[in-house]
Amino acid sequence: MSLPVQERLRELGLWPRWRLRARPAQAASAAPAVSEGPAEIARMDWEALRRAVLTCTRCALHRSRTQGVFGVGDPRAEWLIVGEAPGAEEDRQGEPFVGQAGRLLDAMLAAIGLKRGDNVYIANVLKSRPPGNRDPSPEEVAACLPYLERQIDLIGPKLILAVGRFAAQSLLTTDTAIGRLRGRVHRYRGIPLIVTYHPAYLLRNPADKARAWEDLVLARRTMAAILAGRPV
Ligand code: URA
Repeated sequence: MSLPVQERLRELGLWPRWRLRARPAQAASAAPAVSEGPAEIARMDWEALRRAVLTCTRCALHRSRTQGVFGVGDPRAEWLIVGEAPGAEEDRQGEPFVGQAGRLLDAMLAAIGLKRGDNVYIANVLKSRPPGNRDPSPEEVAACLPYLERQIDLIGPKLILAVGRFAAQSLLTTDTAIGRLRGRVHRYRGIPLIVTYHPAYLLRNPADKARAWEDLVLARRTMAAILAGRPV
């Protein structure tokens, strides 16, 4: 007499049959959000832009960062300082230039009568920290630049100070060495832009602080001319 099917399956170890468990409810919502593209970023208001940066997944850096670093200061500032990318301390605190290089940047600003947050906005080209503070890749710069471009549109600064090679080369779309970019007034979409050394570089090469001081004097003189309506 043949055994019922279930009994035969049980003897073969095939009953009860293995069943797929229900997919955990959170799986769908844990999927990374798709970040907006450049055309949408270019239409965002300040708050939407800030939220987009904090939740951005446009490049792989979102996987290793602690948080996106949007920028700090007065969103109507006449001065815009642009750096490279958050370092370890900026990644932890969510604010640009708060480490050792940031303290030197604050001293550089103070030397020309400026103060973080007071008619000054500080932002970076990259909003997420490259692991180990490595150089940003061209793909990361391309993915992140629309955020900075929109920040510049919305702030409408009178003058941009690009600190370091990455900020200068990214905004001026050039690969000219920083030594040849400093010392004159460039334009970013019509806005006067001055290039100087990155404070982290100056910490390693203090002999170049004299050149950085010349750049800051040029920036101060250029702003005075802009405010007086003189050509720059
Ligand atoms: N270096 C930068 O370029 N930006 C920061 O925010 C910190 C260090």
